[in-house]
Amino acid sequence: MTVQDVPTVFEIEQKSFPSGSWTLDAFYHELEKNEFSHYFVMTLDDRVIGYLGSWIVIDQAQITTIAIDEALRGFGYGQLLLEYVMNYAQTTCEMMSLEVREENMAARHVYEKLGFSYGGLRKDYYGAGQDAKVMWVRLRNE
Ligand SMILES: CC(C)(COP(=O)(O)OP(=O)(O)OC[C@H]1O[C@@H](n2cnc3c(N)ncnc32)[C@H](O)[C@@H]1OP(=O)(O)O)[C@@H](O)C(=O)NCCC(=O)NCCS
Repeated sequence: MTVQDVPTVFEIEQKSFPSGSWTLDAFYHELEKNEFSHYFVMTLDDRVIGYLGSWIVIDQAQITTIAIDEALRGFGYGQLLLEYVMNYAQTTCEMMSLEVREENMAARHVYEKLGFSYGGLRKDYYGAGQDAKVMWVRLRNE
C-alpha cells in the first residue's frame, strides 16, 4: 500500500466497518510514521479491491486490518491476500495473531481455513462491551 492507495482503501474501510472505521489519518500514519507496519493492497485490473495491514515486531506478526470490497467478497480474494502476507511474514516471524469479532463468521472461516486457532478473549476490545477473539497461527515449525 502506498499513500496513493489510501483514498480507495478508505472507501472500502468505511463500507466494511460502518460502526467504527479507521480515519484517513490512521492509514497515513501507518504508512508514513509506523516503522513496524507492513501494509498491502490487492488489485484487480489495476483497481484496489482489498487491503491488509500488519505490524511485524521482531519475530511476531499481527494483522491490524483486512477487508475486501463488498461486491467482490466470497471469491477467494481474502484468503489469497492473507496467505500472501503469511508467506511474506514467515521469513522473519514465527507467529501471527489477529483479533476478530465473535459474530464475524466469514472472517473466522477464512482464518480457521488458514490454520489459525483460538487463543483467548480481549474483553471490550471493540467498545460497547464487544469482546474480540484472539486467533493465532504458527508460521514456521522450527
Ligand atoms: C473477511 C473478508 C476479508 C474475507 O474476504 P473474502 O474475499 O470474502 O474471503 P474469501 O472469499 O477468501 O473466503 C470467504 C469464506 O467465508 C465463507 N463465508 C462467507 N460468509 C460466511 C458465513 N456467514 N459463515 C461462515 N462462512 C462464511 C465463504 O463461504 C468462504 O469460504 P469458502 O472459500 O470455504 O467457501 C471479507 O469478508 C471482508 O472484507 N469483511 C469485512 C471486513 C472484515 O470483517 N474484516 C475482518 C476483520 S477481523
